[in-house]
Amino acid sequence: MAKEMIIVLDFGGQYNQLIARRVRENNVYCEILPYTASLEEIRALSPKGIIFTGGPNSVYDPESPHYSKDIFELGIPILGICYGSQLMAWALGGVVETAPVSEYGHTDTCLDVNSPLFEGCSEKTSVWMSHTDYIARTPEGFNIIAHTPVCPVAAMEFPDKKLYATQFHPEVLHTAEGKTILRNFVKNICACEGEWKMESFIESAVQELREAIGDKRVILGLSGGVDSSVAAALLSKAVGKQLTCVFVDHGLMRKNEGDEVQRIFTQRFDMEFVRVNCQEHFLQALKDVVDPEQKRKIIGTEFYRVFWDEIKKLQEDGLSYFAQGTIYPDRIESGKGKNKKSAVIKTHHNMVEQPKDVQFLGTIEPLKDLFKDEVRAVGELLGLPRDLVWRQPFPGPGLGVRVIGAITAEKVSLLQDADWILRDEMSKNGYESQLSQFFCVLPGVNTVGVMGDFRTYSDLIVIRAVTTDDFMTADWARIPYDILAKVSGRITNEMKGRVNRVVYDITSKPPATVEWE
Ligand code: XMP
Repeated sequence: MAKEMIIVLDFGGQYNQLIARRVRENNVYCEILPYTASLEEIRALSPKGIIFTGGPNSVYDPESPHYSKDIFELGIPILGICYGSQLMAWALGGVVETAPVSEYGHTDTCLDVNSPLFEGCSEKTSVWMSHTDYIARTPEGFNIIAHTPVCPVAAMEFPDKKLYATQFHPEVLHTAEGKTILRNFVKNICACEGEWKMESFIESAVQELREAIGDKRVILGLSGGVDSSVAAALLSKAVGKQLTCVFVDHGLMRKNEGDEVQRIFTQRFDMEFVRVNCQEHFLQALKDVVDPEQKRKIIGTEFYRVFWDEIKKLQEDGLSYFAQGTIYPDRIESGKGKNKKSAVIKTHHNMVEQPKDVQFLGTIEPLKDLFKDEVRAVGELLGLPRDLVWRQPFPGPGLGVRVIGAITAEKVSLLQDADWILRDEMSKNGYESQLSQFFCVLPGVNTVGVMGDFRTYSDLIVIRAVTTDDFMTADWARIPYDILAKVSGRITNEMKGRVNRVVYDITSKPPATVEWE
């Protein structure tokens, strides 16, 4: 879609998506390819520049990821970062060895600001280092353009061949002038103009969707989450009433959320909207089920049973296209390979297989090239409300994993009411944006309380709130006591007779998980 492209060649480092994000911040489209991508594949994409990522290996280890030397002869500018810099040095005849002193973290570095890579930077700056090997001798033709007290080649260049390398990580924010360095590479060295803007993305995506869909119908499963909502808005702009959104409401959404989703999409957007209300069906399927994994499996299975049944009905008069809100991070093939094994902690039901008896004309993924923040920007440009676009993650099984133990309609409604008060108070105090996620949990425990002269015996509500970058680990949020006091006061007052105690979960992940089930 974009004419200008930078390729990030992934050698297994941990910041690879970050590099791509930083490049895109310069309005230049960027794709991540595994280091196993062939030279022909790279050439076919005509990139204006290539960035080699970091990686955990040593270049002189025969098992470590390498790349054909021919890549340096393409005439395309290359920036090697960390492992990528060592790979460049080693492949072109330099010497890489174990550094006498490893560097990790903030490191004072001297830059040669005459290099186009460091244009506009300070001569002395702080960079982020993380290495045990280093370039002991540069290959022929290279100049050293940065050093630290213990690293003689913190950066090198061969301007005639447009080859550049940094031992440090310009992509992380700890590198004080990292953004300038990457911008210099993308704009000055690769001569990119910066045409990747979300306004033009929408324009060309609409055009392409119209061509792909023609006069056919396209069906999208709408969950009310960010990705499917933005996909719906974009498809609506492209094909209007040819789009049918199927919204399966399992009755385990937050208070009023189902109605809100329906209101937004039916009032603001041109489309066919099918809402399948099936709380009864789910409650029946979940009756007396206590085991969290079993609950997740039932909710996942039933959800898709209802969904595919609805799609079969819709397709009785002819096949349609199937749209999905897949985004770029969902489909990046990492340089670490695909065979990483990990234990199943919780079954997420987002990824499903299409049943054999459901056919489509084809699959359409209008957001497949966008990062999450780009998806949000597109959503805002298309007129989706801010609170939907910036919505916190919400688990597929919904409140089903926040009502602990067996689920009933009463318990769901009690939890919805308490959770609504928490959200209302957070929003009134402007505290929402400080947290990654917050919600209430109903553990299904009654405790003794006192009201006036009487003993009470009612439900306990838990508040859970976390801050995190990636949800793999999370810290419990230090919400000010005053706000917690207000929430607790409101829940116990407004829910008199139903809740008589509120507690705050002060456990991080690990050892806990964010959700309780
Ligand atoms: P845990 O509880 O695993 O949650 O620490 C991490 C993040 O994932 C969300 N979550 C889910 N999201 N389907 C989803 O789409 C699920 O089944 C699911 N379970 C947990 C959770 O809300 C948190 O943001």
